[in-house]
Amino acid sequence: MHFFKHSRITAILCVATLTLATVGAVNAQVKKGKSRPAKTSQLMKGLIKPNCDALKKGLDAGPEDDKAWAALGVNASILNEGSYLLMDDGRCPDGVWAESASKTLRKGSADLLAAIESKDLSAAKASFGSMTKSCGACHDAHKEKK
Ligand code: HEC
Repeated sequence: MHFFKHSRITAILCVATLTLATVGAVNAQVKKGKSRPAKTSQLMKGLIKPNCDALKKGLDAGPEDDKAWAALGVNASILNEGSYLLMDDGRCPDGVWAESASKTLRKGSADLLAAIESKDLSAAKASFGSMTKSCGACHDAHKEKK
C-alpha cells in the first residue's frame, strides 16, 4: 500500500517533469533556431512587423504612383523571404507553425506581390487579408500570452 502510493507519486512527478521538459524544449526552438543567432522575436520586430505595418499603411492609403507601388513590392517580397526564414535552422516545431509560415504567409505574400506588380489594389487588399491570417494562427499556438 505504502509502496503503491509512493510509486504513484513518482509516476506523477515523472510525467510532470517530462511535460515541463517538452514544453521547455519546444519553447527554446520557437524562440531561436539551432545555429544562427537571430531570435524569433528579433525576426518579428525587425523584419515581419515593419514590413507588415508598411503594407497596411500603404494599402489603406492606396499607392499614389509607381514609386509607392514599388515600395510595397519590397515589403511583400521581404515578407515572402521571411516565410522561408521562419522554416529554417530547425525553428519549426510542428504542423501549425509549418502551415502558417510555409503556406499562409508564403502564399499570401506571393499573391500580394503579384497583385502589387499588376497594381490591383483590391486584389492586393484581399491577399494582405489572407496573408495576415498567418500571424494569429501561429501566435495562438506559439506566442506566450502576456
Ligand atoms: C510561424 C509562426 C509565426 C508567424 C507566421 C508569425 N509570427 Fe509573430 N511571433 C511568433 C513567435 C513564436 C513570437 C514570440 C517570440 C518570442 O517571444 O520569443 C512572435 C512574436 C511576434 C511579435 C512580438 C515581438 C516582440 O518580441 O516584441 C510581433 C510584433 C509579431 N510576432 C508580429 C507578427 C506579424 C505581424 C505576423 C504576420 C505578418 C507574424 N508575427 C507572423 C511566431 C510567428
